[in-house]
Amino acid sequence: MSTAKKEYKRITVKTLSEMKASNEKIAMLTAYDFTMAQMVDKAGVDVILVGDSASNVIAGHETTLPITLDQMIYHASAVVRGTKRALVVVDLPFGSYQSDSKEALRSAIRIMKESGAHTVKLEGGTENGDALKRILGAGIPVMGHLGLTPQSIYQFGSYTVRAKQEAEAEKLIADALFLQEQGCFGIVLEKVPAALAQTVAESLHIPVIGIGAGSGVDGQVLVLHDMLGMTTEFSPRFLRRYLNLDEQIGGALSQYVSDVKSVAFPSKDEQY
Ligand code: KIV
Repeated sequence: MSTAKKEYKRITVKTLSEMKASNEKIAMLTAYDFTMAQMVDKAGVDVILVGDSASNVIAGHETTLPITLDQMIYHASAVVRGTKRALVVVDLPFGSYQSDSKEALRSAIRIMKESGAHTVKLEGGTENGDALKRILGAGIPVMGHLGLTPQSIYQFGSYTVRAKQEAEAEKLIADALFLQEQGCFGIVLEKVPAALAQTVAESLHIPVIGIGAGSGVDGQVLVLHDMLGMTTEFSPRFLRRYLNLDEQIGGALSQYVSDVKSVAFPSKDEQY
């Protein structure tokens, strides 16, 4: 397994396919704004996902369902402006692609035209056949999303690990093959047993990016605010926190309040 980081000018869907073929793992993270996208991009993250998790971590909703297409386009255009190297994938939000395939295509076209993003992502398998045909037929690269699909949370009732039972695992494998046959360039696999995720990754020639799906897949994705420790209430086993920003930012903010109150800020050097 190669751990070397090859230099790529701009990551494309073709680059990702080459990375899979050469066993180079793909690093993917979410971002929702210009400043963070710049940092994520400079760090060498290959794929930036403008996730509908913005509904949770930016807007404070309990689920991903309320975020609108207009709001996704707003976040996506800011991320695109902050990105020089990474491939930008944008979630089609709940309600923008499920009801009919023409609406799905219109939504995908709006994202591409108005934000300048490179690809879209949608949740689900065979049930999206018509929408996938139309969007892919218009030349828009599509990423699939299987396993735990947060837009269907009210159907499942919980955010627990998916596809532990054989029937659900078989359906997931069939859906993954279907997405590949339709022409998707990759799949996100969320919260499924590691052995199943590895089987899926080994059965497909397109990259499989895991979140809570173990190390036998072609890459990993995390929600930026979770891995930086800005969120504290969400602590699934798969989440590695690389920083504890909640504490660090909180400390800095308290210090600022105290400095203003005690007139320790501004100092003589910080005024004109
Ligand atoms: O919206 C999102 O952040 C996602 C990731 C969890 C993969 O879909």
